[in-house]
Amino acid sequence: MGLNLDPRQRAMLEEMGIRVWSPLTQAALATTTVQPEPDALAGVSERVAPQSAPRERTVQAAHLTAPAPADLQPRVAGVESMGWAALQQAVAGCRACALCSGRRHTVFGMGGFVPPSADQPPAADWLIVGEAPGEQEDLSGWPFVGPAGQLLDNMLKAMGLDRHREVVLGEGKAAQGTYIANVLKCRPPSNRNPEGDEVAQCLPYLRRQIDLLQPKIILTMGRFAAQALLHDSVPDVHGQPLGKLRGQVHRYRGIPVVVTYHPAYLLRAMGDKAKAWADLCLAMQAFATLTCSKPGVDTAEA
Ligand code: URA
Repeated sequence: MGLNLDPRQRAMLEEMGIRVWSPLTQAALATTTVQPEPDALAGVSERVAPQSAPRERTVQAAHLTAPAPADLQPRVAGVESMGWAALQQAVAGCRACALCSGRRHTVFGMGGFVPPSADQPPAADWLIVGEAPGEQEDLSGWPFVGPAGQLLDNMLKAMGLDRHREVVLGEGKAAQGTYIANVLKCRPPSNRNPEGDEVAQCLPYLRRQIDLLQPKIILTMGRFAAQALLHDSVPDVHGQPLGKLRGQVHRYRGIPVVVTYHPAYLLRAMGDKAKAWADLCLAMQAFATLTCSKPGVDTAEA
């Protein structure tokens, strides 16, 4: 796939703190796709800070109190066969874990092209999977609307994607829609990581979203999203640092999955933005390969 960046995309990369080395050759694309200039890599270390706890979800949790166990209810049955509208309702009414007690809104997801009927999923070639809502998302009910969301939007724009609309890529290239969802649909308090039981309760919703959306490719952001989708296909995925999961195309139920850093992590680990851009390029390359019906680029099969 040739990566012809227009001035807007270049500006977006500048926004990400990445300057693009050009011109790109196909050979360069096959390896790292875009070479950040050497100074962009200066000081890059594998893990500048823990990647698992995006700090955008700041401690604003005084209103969150654990519910009495009696207030919890088992997750509604049949999630795995629900239509889109029923799934949205199930999430909105979910009281399967303690996170329900303090939430203002559940955050189901957004993006893609509006379908003709409410029970159909939006059309989206790309699915971006984050970790969990933060404060802004809890307040608004929409994913990635805080500072990390701004960076995510810039990353998407650098890829020629836009969660708000269909992006038409030009002659001979298909339009691409982008849907954004999280592993958890409710905000964890006090900027803490998702807990095992919360992921276990919530993951069936994401799995059903994926079944219905049928994206062509999934980009996971941060450790929890990667673990949630790869624990059936990557041995000991929970014991692996994110860096080990990057740089290859995994599979979730046959769908290619590329792993990258969480934007909230990138906001404080600027040096890793160049690596994130390499991940995005890998994802674009995998997507192009898919849509050109060329042989797969997979290195890891589910
Ligand atoms: N971080 C996430 O992982 N998801 C959001 O929606 C917002 C911040």
